[in-house]
Amino acid sequence: MLKSCLEREQDDMEDKGRNKGSVEEEDNEKVDERQTQTKKRKRKEIAIYGNYKNYYGYRTKDLKEDPRLMVLKKEWFEGKDCLDIGCNQGLITMSIAKKFSCRSICGVDIDSYLIETANWNLRRSAKMDNASCKFSNANRSKVSEETNALEHSGTASLNEGAANLLRDSNPSQEPNIFDVVSFREENFVLSRQRCSEAYDTILCLSVTKWVHLNWGDDGLITLFAKIWRLLRPGGVFILEAQNWKSYKSNYQVSEIATFNYNNILFPPLLFQDILLDKIGFRTVENITASLPGSAAGFNRPIFVFCK
Ligand SMILES: C[S@@+](CC[C@H](N)C(=O)[O-])C[C@H]1O[C@@H](n2cnc3c(N)ncnc32)[C@H](O)[C@@H]1O
Repeated sequence: MLKSCLEREQDDMEDKGRNKGSVEEEDNEKVDERQTQTKKRKRKEIAIYGNYKNYYGYRTKDLKEDPRLMVLKKEWFEGKDCLDIGCNQGLITMSIAKKFSCRSICGVDIDSYLIETANWNLRRSAKMDNASCKFSNANRSKVSEETNALEHSGTASLNEGAANLLRDSNPSQEPNIFDVVSFREENFVLSRQRCSEAYDTILCLSVTKWVHLNWGDDGLITLFAKIWRLLRPGGVFILEAQNWKSYKSNYQVSEIATFNYNNILFPPLLFQDILLDKIGFRTVENITASLPGSAAGFNRPIFVFCK
């Protein structure tokens, strides 16, 4: 009897031990699972403003050039003052400045880290320009020497190779990129307009969804109205808006986004009407009918509105 009691007690203790062991194992498994989830979450960025740190890694991966640059017209930028709202790391801002010779282009973004990166990219680009300029100048001196030598030797004309070299190495009148491109941290929806601020061209590429989700219809109308005010007469507004379907992938990024999403009355399909009938733009043109080589999921139409 005594033995059986002891045995039972022992069995109980073993059971408890076993249970304790399995509870501990279960706990450990849960901890492991939670740690993996945390790691996964850490790896997956939460970008409530669409402020992705590696945006261009997937937007333009494997492409030589952002395909949007191919549909933009030089006349909207050459010698013009431009604004790029939601510039992210400033890559398309700088490409536009270089490709189309803007007089000035300012990129603004709500995310200070992205603006730091944009400024870093700007400095790197300036260094590279500098290096290629030095290389050109070195070539130029070499050509001058060759020219002098030819002149001294009585040869009438430069050989063709030297002439080409001279033409290619002619230090162009390209302005310093720091005088053209600038970046600043700014929440474009909530910031106050500076009195002297005016632009010929304003870009708003893949930003409207984030403004819409974070500040609702009011934020969207504020964005459009502010763009209108900042544009000079005859100025152009270049808009690439995400479609309504794509809102579904992001409306859960925050409680505010979910709330705004559920209360939106002006979906992207109405943007054109709002900009023409309510804001006051004169004309609109879809410039992406033949947009080539877009990465999957990024073939959004781009519209150009004239003030
Ligand atoms: C999806 S990215 C698009 C980047 C770039 N415009 C392009 O198309 O290559 C959206 C950018 O808008 C910025 N953004 C969102 N809301 C903003 C706001 N209210 N003011 C300024 N920037 C904003 C985000 O930080 C993010 O960098």
